[in-house]
Amino acid sequence: MGALAAEPVLTVRDLVVHYHTPRGPIKAVEHVSFDVYKGERFGLVGESGCGKSTTAMALLRLIKPPGRIETGEVRLEGRDLLTLKPDELRTLRWRDLSLIPQGAMNSLNPVMRIREQIEDVIICHEGRPSPAELAERVHKLLNMVGLPRRVTTMYPHELSGGMKQRVCIAMAIALNPKLVIADELTSALDVVVQRVVIQTLMEVQERLGTSLIVIGHDMGLQAQLVDRLAVMYAGRIAEIADAITIFEQPLHPYTRLLIASVPSTKEKKPLQAIPGLPPTLLNPPPGCAFHPRCPAAFERCAVEVPRLQEVAPKHQVACHLFSERIS
Ligand SMILES: Nc1ncnc2c1ncn2[C@@H]1O[C@H](COP(=O)(O)OP(=O)(O)OP(=O)(O)O)[C@@H](O)[C@H]1O
Ligand SMILES: [Mg+2]
Repeated sequence: MGALAAEPVLTVRDLVVHYHTPRGPIKAVEHVSFDVYKGERFGLVGESGCGKSTTAMALLRLIKPPGRIETGEVRLEGRDLLTLKPDELRTLRWRDLSLIPQGAMNSLNPVMRIREQIEDVIICHEGRPSPAELAERVHKLLNMVGLPRRVTTMYPHELSGGMKQRVCIAMAIALNPKLVIADELTSALDVVVQRVVIQTLMEVQERLGTSLIVIGHDMGLQAQLVDRLAVMYAGRIAEIADAITIFEQPLHPYTRLLIASVPSTKEKKPLQAIPGLPPTLLNPPPGCAFHPRCPAAFERCAVEVPRLQEVAPKHQVACHLFSERIS
């Protein structure tokens, strides 16, 4: 993975996204801030419904009503994506920043050949190159993701899940973007295929030097993949640190419990479940949303939302146990 450049390619500040439902606003993303550095693999992990996909969609301004980006700043190499004009944003998608959405393999067009779907991405952004050049680029992309040439003339239904996910990777990297976001890329695949697809994405990322945001709920899988990891809980970031630090010195009680629930082959330990249920984001608990389930909660946790603060170099945590220490 090598040393990371100190420059962020993406900065997200105070991002807030709500879904305005008849029952009230669902606070899916609340004041989320993080940076992704050049060439870095950044992981976003958390339980189902904690706001991971909403965060990803918001970065590309793909939130649809009743969802709305309330506030925030999303900068890609300095350009604020939330204030770009729609046509500027269209040019930037795929070319500078591309998203492999959750369930992407099921949204490949069923009546278009794989070749045409990849060609579309190129033609939409760069105009139509010569047929020979176009064919060459498609073959190169397929080759990069480990798919044989014959896939070009096939339709999505003729491919396995793993192959379809590789096609999605090929489309995401077609224009050599600065940042690729992969949302639950392998969740629908069996573990063997999961490994191979992840391996493909990592190889491609390394070869192109792209930055990568990997979204998932599998803490164990993420640990092996990413340089840094952000743990999300109920629409907020609970902790951010190097993946190794998160595993060896987790600070947030939620992160600690998440790690205790990851099976290990090295040491046989009883798996720990996190007591209680994730909160509804329609009406989250006051203060720290984790406090009703937290073994270390004290009075302040029920009344005041903890801010994400740097408590050690490159280690941020949003927990009153640690805000005490530095305030
Ligand atoms: N279109 C929508 N309308 C209303 N609420 C929504 C909508 N989309 C998402 N939500 C709610 O926003 C919250 C965050 O959802 P999101 O899909 O971002 O979570 P996630 O972390 O990606 O979950 P998963 O791991 O299941 O993919 C959830 O409470 C969800 O129910
Ligand atoms: Mg999701």
